[in-house]
Amino acid sequence: MRNILNISSANKTFFSSGRKTQALCNVSIDITAGERVALIGASGSGKSTLIRSILGLEVLDQDGGMIKINEREIQANGHLSKDVRQIRNEVGVIFQQFNLVNQLDVLTNVLIGICPNKNIFQIISRRFSLEEKAKALDALERVGLVDFAYQRSSTLSGGQQQRVAIARALIKGAKILLADEPVASLDPESSRKVMETMVTLSEKLDLTYITSLHQIPIAKKYCVRTIALNHGTVVFDGPTKELGAAMLAKLYGSNLGDLEMEDDFSCNRGDGIASPELILVE
Ligand SMILES: Nc1ncnc2c1ncn2[C@@H]1O[C@H](COP(=O)(O)OP(=O)(O)OP(=O)(O)O)[C@@H](O)[C@H]1O
Ligand SMILES: [Mg+2]
Repeated sequence: MRNILNISSANKTFFSSGRKTQALCNVSIDITAGERVALIGASGSGKSTLIRSILGLEVLDQDGGMIKINEREIQANGHLSKDVRQIRNEVGVIFQQFNLVNQLDVLTNVLIGICPNKNIFQIISRRFSLEEKAKALDALERVGLVDFAYQRSSTLSGGQQQRVAIARALIKGAKILLADEPVASLDPESSRKVMETMVTLSEKLDLTYITSLHQIPIAKKYCVRTIALNHGTVVFDGPTKELGAAMLAKLYGSNLGDLEMEDDFSCNRGDGIASPELILVE
């Protein structure tokens, strides 16, 4: 199987207000194309720092840490690759806050995915070709939102906006989707739709899906592999089903009860959006 992400001996130290924080400690991870991986750990354990480092938005310490995406080095030895933007553009990124432009319609928000590094004025003034629009509509169909294409993004629910963000990642042709707490601000039902959309896309399009999560039941239901961080160190990396109570207690201590509570992620799809299986029939 082909490795799509290699992280080797990654260290990241922050110095802020006279305080030193080791956010990543000797992190080494290999991820194979098509894997679905949950990144878990208590607040401050280093999940976002790891995701930002994979994207080259944080530079690792200068002690040999290296990150490769699709066999191309995005950073090594404390230096970003000169191709960092190009490599980053091959990764679909999804954040908790959706990062849509509220004033623009859904279709234009998806089209932003094919013109990275442009500001909003450049995007508004750009004429998109019919072919590009067709691609955006196709991506929206894949996430069950084609009927919303000409609606302002701000009128959509949080879960719908997150699915628009997924469509924007898809239109780039990304083979990796990297998500930082994509369902943290969504209700359980919207979370379920977003996660099911991701899972179905990853299966049908052979995408690699790596997501940080705070909700353990979601990790258990949707991610085959889990990597757990504790104070920047990988303390578990294996099949999610082997993630035991002792490890969870070590990770979350007395906060574990809150994280294990929501376990309502059944596969009921009678909800008005097309089922991802239906959407993705080629
Ligand atoms: N820019 C920064 N400057 C200083 N310290 C930072 C910076 N970014 C992160 N840290 C510190 O690094 C550690 C890891 O932070 P990170 O945001 O990666 O954690 P996290 O696991 O994503 O947490 P959460 O679950 O709350 O999002 C924390 O101690 C944090 O305070
Ligand atoms: Mg975080």
